[in-house]
Amino acid sequence: MTTYKITHTSSITAASSFWTKQASRIDWVRPFEQVCDFSKPPFAKWFVGGETNLCYNAIDRHLATRPNQAALVWISSETEQTRTFTYRQLWEEVNCFAAVLKSLGIGKGDRVLIYMPMVPEAVFAMLATVRIGAIHSVVFGGFAAASLAARIDDAKPRVMIVADAGSRAGKIIPLKPLTDEAISLAQHPPKHVVIINRHLDASMQTLPGRDMDYAALAPRHEGEIVACEWVDSSHPSYILYTSGTTGKPKGVQRDTGGYAVALAASMPNIYATQPGEAFFCTSDIGWVVGHSYIVYGPLINGSTTIMYEGLPIRPDPGIWWKLVEQYKVVAMFSSPTAVRVLKKQDTSYLTKYDTSTLRYLYLAGEPLDQPTSDWIENGVGVKVIDNYWQTETGWPILSAQPGIEDTPRKLGSPSFPVYGYNVKLKHDETGAAVGPDEKGVLCIVPPLPPGCMSTIWGDDERFVKTYFGMFKDEQVYTTFDWATRDADGYYYIMGRTDDVINVAGHRLGTREIEEAIQAHKNIAEVAVVGVADALKGQVPVAFAVVKDTSLVATPALIAVHEKEVMATVDHELGAIGRPARVHFVTALPKTRSGKLLRRAIQALCESRDPGDLTTIEDPSALEQVRNAVA
Ligand code: PRX
Repeated sequence: MTTYKITHTSSITAASSFWTKQASRIDWVRPFEQVCDFSKPPFAKWFVGGETNLCYNAIDRHLATRPNQAALVWISSETEQTRTFTYRQLWEEVNCFAAVLKSLGIGKGDRVLIYMPMVPEAVFAMLATVRIGAIHSVVFGGFAAASLAARIDDAKPRVMIVADAGSRAGKIIPLKPLTDEAISLAQHPPKHVVIINRHLDASMQTLPGRDMDYAALAPRHEGEIVACEWVDSSHPSYILYTSGTTGKPKGVQRDTGGYAVALAASMPNIYATQPGEAFFCTSDIGWVVGHSYIVYGPLINGSTTIMYEGLPIRPDPGIWWKLVEQYKVVAMFSSPTAVRVLKKQDTSYLTKYDTSTLRYLYLAGEPLDQPTSDWIENGVGVKVIDNYWQTETGWPILSAQPGIEDTPRKLGSPSFPVYGYNVKLKHDETGAAVGPDEKGVLCIVPPLPPGCMSTIWGDDERFVKTYFGMFKDEQVYTTFDWATRDADGYYYIMGRTDDVINVAGHRLGTREIEEAIQAHKNIAEVAVVGVADALKGQVPVAFAVVKDTSLVATPALIAVHEKEVMATVDHELGAIGRPARVHFVTALPKTRSGKLLRRAIQALCESRDPGDLTTIEDPSALEQVRNAVA
């Protein structure tokens, strides 16, 4: 572990020289004067005085060396299409898209909201936005109208880019009607909606004047060259919303220079890939993993990025491995849930294709259980690396870093802190550092390394309070995850300290789901908890108090009502937040001061001891929960 240890130590104790070296991995139009300005803690500004552009680093700088190499290969098992774009072709597409955005009056600092399925145009739109110094906010296509409206109102985009529809397992998922509904709900609607019409939804309606068809706009700008807008290193590149403990999602704001450097460094160091090699990330562009490792990381590195629209089991469970063989993928990034889905399928597919090019499979977003890790590692014959990070950080906090040193891996552990992260486990009450194998809150001593969030969009105060306000003794960044570290220095993640749950690798706030349920007119009060699930890691389960009890008077009525509540969540938040069960009760277990006893509810749902109940106001409420889950 010598090389790893030396690298990590120098990244903390000699951060300036460490990051100066990493910063040479990207192109700067104006060199930076100061590596990090941490004069206003906890705010950190990286590469002060430097000017660069994210799109330039992702595309333009590769034109001289790899113009004809595939930059982006898009495969859709939904529409049975494959499209390949060389770096030169990607540059042309992005220039055209940037020209369209400019023609709509979009410029530096303007927000562009992207609400799209996994299509190449989503990547063009992201790159075109940062090319002209505008700021994108990609909203996951699985979010419904009210969630989208909340994000519109927070980011206040001047333009939205949407597709007519997505497709899942052959079923068309219209997006345009949700866009229209969200815009009608929003206080700050965008002026224009640019539509990428895939001709999947023949019933799509458009609003003349506001809605514009990209296919009609693009030919007017074909061949146009749009110069990159050189921006300050700390200029925001994007906003990405994520869930917390309140119902209001937080807009994670990312800079430009620090992010580009962090990703550029991560490709060889963590993902052990060289320019020219193929990288396959199975996430969605609507999540942080998609931003960093479908789009920016691989392209900045000069890789070929593989973008896949479809399920891992269609047309058959061999599809991923077929792509690995076909494109000679060297590193792959996915989630434990996706692997658990494959585990239920015919395992002969794991060895049907030649996957010998694949060096590592990175799994992230949720706890990786040992059986799943073992199964895929042995089945495909690939080393699995557990990656732990957050939307806030944009790149791994804990991971083995085989590009630095191929350290031994321990099952169930995402290994060690990545260079740049000064990780500390603190006792939740005293703030004291915990000893080996003792549980503590995983914290990062600031400054956060390059690439991590700069602030919460439009709310510096919330940024400081939320992330740096947990401990009195020290201003540290809190991940809100419990963790332990063993005597050898390996970390183990033990779950969240807050009310955030993780459903199939998707991060959701229980409060967000509760608010969605409360949109149903018959719901007086509701509690949502995350319950352990063999496939998805966790699923939301709701306990609701209804206003009109006659609507849940018989088992048949209950079943109807439960479906209705679930449909409300689909409509308000999106199907990803739909509770697995909605139980109707007449009271919720609370403390005498009125706080919901979520941990106790969760424990009963998982057949565990509910713990200390001395503060409970009405024990019969807990009995109702017990009976409901029984
Ligand atoms: O609780 C941790 C869990 O997912 C949270 C972050 O989710 P998100 O913002 O969606 O970012 C995902 C980026 C990969 C964390 O606070 N989590 C993430 N990775 C792991 C994990 N839990 C256990 N093991 C992991 N490898």
